[in-house]
Amino acid sequence: MTATPYYIVYEEKLRRNLDLITRVAREAQVEIIMAFKANALWRTFGVFREYGIRSTASSLNEMWLANEELHCKAHTYCPAYTPETIDQFLAGSSHLTFNSVTQFQRFEQNVKDYNATQENTISCGLRINPMCSVIDTDIYNPCSPGSRFGVTAEELDVLPKGIDGFHFHALCESTSFDLEKVLIAVERQFGRFLSQLKWINMGGGHLMTREGYDTAHLVRLLRDFKRRYPNLHVILEPGSAFCWQTGDLETTVVDIVENSGIATAIIDASFACHMPDCLEMPYKPRITQALDEVDHNFPTYRLGGNSCLSGDFVGDWSFERPLQIGDHLTLEDMNHYTTVKTNMFNGIAHPAIVYRRLDGTTEVLREFTYEDYKRRMS
Ligand SMILES: Cc1ncc(COP(=O)(O)O)c(C=O)c1O
Repeated sequence: MTATPYYIVYEEKLRRNLDLITRVAREAQVEIIMAFKANALWRTFGVFREYGIRSTASSLNEMWLANEELHCKAHTYCPAYTPETIDQFLAGSSHLTFNSVTQFQRFEQNVKDYNATQENTISCGLRINPMCSVIDTDIYNPCSPGSRFGVTAEELDVLPKGIDGFHFHALCESTSFDLEKVLIAVERQFGRFLSQLKWINMGGGHLMTREGYDTAHLVRLLRDFKRRYPNLHVILEPGSAFCWQTGDLETTVVDIVENSGIATAIIDASFACHMPDCLEMPYKPRITQALDEVDHNFPTYRLGGNSCLSGDFVGDWSFERPLQIGDHLTLEDMNHYTTVKTNMFNGIAHPAIVYRRLDGTTEVLREFTYEDYKRRMS
């Protein structure tokens, strides 16, 4: 095993999520594909391929990863295609969703030319925006006023010829009841177009693997929708749900300092670099070795990252006994989004990536060195 810090991903937990997601897809008669935004640890993709998982892509790099490592063409949605990128997107996609009618009109001819020469043609979609906000955190809300995502109902008088599908994304770590609200808005605003389409992609944010998520309600909701629109192939593209609670970040306490009565345990990782959502979202992860709640009757600490950013800390957590230098701390649920969003700010050593297989063996998938830091710059 490698030294801390390292992310560890558990095959058993990935399979548990994949079992649940593929069961929901079967029961609801929908297709559930994975969003790479939340997970690009491609050396674990063998398991995803076993379950027949395909993927969505929002950039050329994500699309190429789908082609290479999931062995599939991608359902692609990129906020803006350009003349320089469109042909590459066409070559690696099965579905291409446009963010605006202008974007579709700009590249419609490229699609027609491509389809005229191919056996597997590309199906075009339009991203719609039902402007139905169910997310409290603005940075994750694609439906807030002024959003740059998708066409609103007022903007769409007629369905452009050549559009086969609609795509909407309005959820984030949401419940099936949030989806129900959004579906009501979609049908109310865009219902007149739905019978003319072949598919609808309901985006991501369906956190069906979270404890307490009502999957039976989701299945009922989707089956009812399909009964109303039997012409539509329904696609969901969650990211988080696939990797929810499938891995942790293992760290070590490297110093303990105190200022103005606040004790901070500095760890050999960084919130800013290795757990950015803790600061961005923000949220406070569970720590295996800490008490469930802060209790000032017990030794209580902030955790500070090993970077020079003043705000690189989260806390507090309480522990049964005072922390010591060398103590091991496990920051839980650090796979989805976290492993994709890390950075090398400050040159802080990037955690290694470790995979624990079903048979109990562990493999270090990747270790990062000075060369990785240096090669990102020139
Ligand atoms: C268009 C789109 N699809 C899918 C997702 C995945 O969402 P989640 O990981 O919350 O399921 C996102 C996330 O931002 C997205 O923007």
